[in-house]
Amino acid sequence: MANNRGPSFFLTLLFHLLTISASFVQISSLGFGINYGQIANNLPSPSRVVLLIKSLNVTRIKLYDADPNVLLAFSNSNVQFVVGLGNEYLANMTNPSKAQSWIQQHLQPYLSQTKITCITVGNEVFNTNDTQLIMNLLPAMQSVHGALVNLGLDQQVTVTTAHSFNILSNSYPPSSGSFRQDLLQYIQPLLAFHSQFNSPFLINAYPFFAYKDNPSEVSLSYVLFEPNPGSIDPNTNLNYDNMLYAQIDAVYAAIKMLGHTDIEVRISETGWPSKGDTNEIGASPENAATYNGNLLKRIEQKQGTPANPSVPIDIYVFALFNENLKPGPASERNYGLYYPDGTPVYNIGLQGFLPEMVIASSSNGSAVNFLACIITCFISAWELLRL
Ligand SMILES: *[C@@H]1O[C@H](CO)[C@@H](O)[C@H](O)[C@H]1NC(C)=O
Ligand SMILES: *[C@@H]1O[C@H](CO)[C@@H](O)[C@H](O)[C@H]1NC(C)=O
Ligand SMILES: *[C@@H]1O[C@H](CO)[C@@H](O)[C@H](O)[C@H]1NC(C)=O
Ligand SMILES: *[C@@H]1O[C@H](CO)[C@@H](O)[C@H](O)[C@H]1NC(C)=O
Repeated sequence: MANNRGPSFFLTLLFHLLTISASFVQISSLGFGINYGQIANNLPSPSRVVLLIKSLNVTRIKLYDADPNVLLAFSNSNVQFVVGLGNEYLANMTNPSKAQSWIQQHLQPYLSQTKITCITVGNEVFNTNDTQLIMNLLPAMQSVHGALVNLGLDQQVTVTTAHSFNILSNSYPPSSGSFRQDLLQYIQPLLAFHSQFNSPFLINAYPFFAYKDNPSEVSLSYVLFEPNPGSIDPNTNLNYDNMLYAQIDAVYAAIKMLGHTDIEVRISETGWPSKGDTNEIGASPENAATYNGNLLKRIEQKQGTPANPSVPIDIYVFALFNENLKPGPASERNYGLYYPDGTPVYNIGLQGFLPEMVIASSSNGSAVNFLACIITCFISAWELLRL
């Protein structure tokens, strides 16, 4: 995707500059959210990330904590935040007064300037097999919600948790989706909570895992949203042309099996790694660009799933940056849309890059870097003037 530098390069640059300036004045939102993970020691400062996010037109961010530096940097932006309470907090959060003081310390100071719409209490708790942690999940969610009620914040901030797709024991065909038997005792009361307080059921869904585990059986075009004949659910006659939609509908079916049709399923994480270990078949920049690029197109079309065509899919892409300190296989450190220096890992046609990124992906030339610096300063000044 390297551009040839010439007169048109500078025109392009100017065009980007104008577009970006315009987007500061009248930001209208892209339909997808993005996970801003920070398990890395080389990420740009939150104040620079603000510029990146604004230039992308992204208006929804999910954090794994309630990082005050991020919440402050996004003051007076029109970005909405999902903040996270890590699993290590769950035991304490079962105590209502500790839950209330956490909210008073970590949320309330930022709420007048930064939109925080949701707290995820724990991440993939059922996947840990830690019985104590699992038993603490709902009580922790209840006391966090109770604290929000006490503070008069429950109408603006919802409480939920994010699950691994592994909590399903069966996901195919989608209409037969069901939760793991051993988890039903925890999930049934959890669903009552979601239903009572109208909070969404969040799933982290990665068709990549299914492909990687079984590349000879799983069709790559089916998992990458490329044209393919699809597969028909024999119970409903609905045709699925991609795995992610089948996974979402399997979760709806599992919830319905427990008696609920009043809970919305949303995707708290999905993505595709641009790199992996040699045994991680399918991890490549081409596949990652195809997966995320096709997904973003479908989001822009406000598509629903076959079983719920009128409910547009609601998705947080994983992730904004590659995170160099994540443990596990190489893929874990390579889900980002961007390198920490702000260069896109691959081109998926997102408009509105920061000037630095346009340049960094085009050239290493020092004259150009100097120009990038001037433009960045200009944009920062513009931002400051707006505050
Ligand atoms: C939980 O509460 C105890 C006692 O107040 C405190 O010492 C501990 O640091 C808390 N744990 C976390 C993870 O915040
Ligand atoms: C948790 O338990 C399930 C079912 O027994 C098992 O399949 C899974 O591998 C376990 N996960 C972990 C992280 O131990
Ligand atoms: C932001 O979104 C609006 C509406 O979708 C679009 O017209 C505009 O070009 C976008 N700006 C950028 C920088 O992508
Ligand atoms: C920029 O420089 C690095 C290291 O010097 C090099 O690996 C890379 O290929 C260069 N990129 C371009 C687009 O010239």
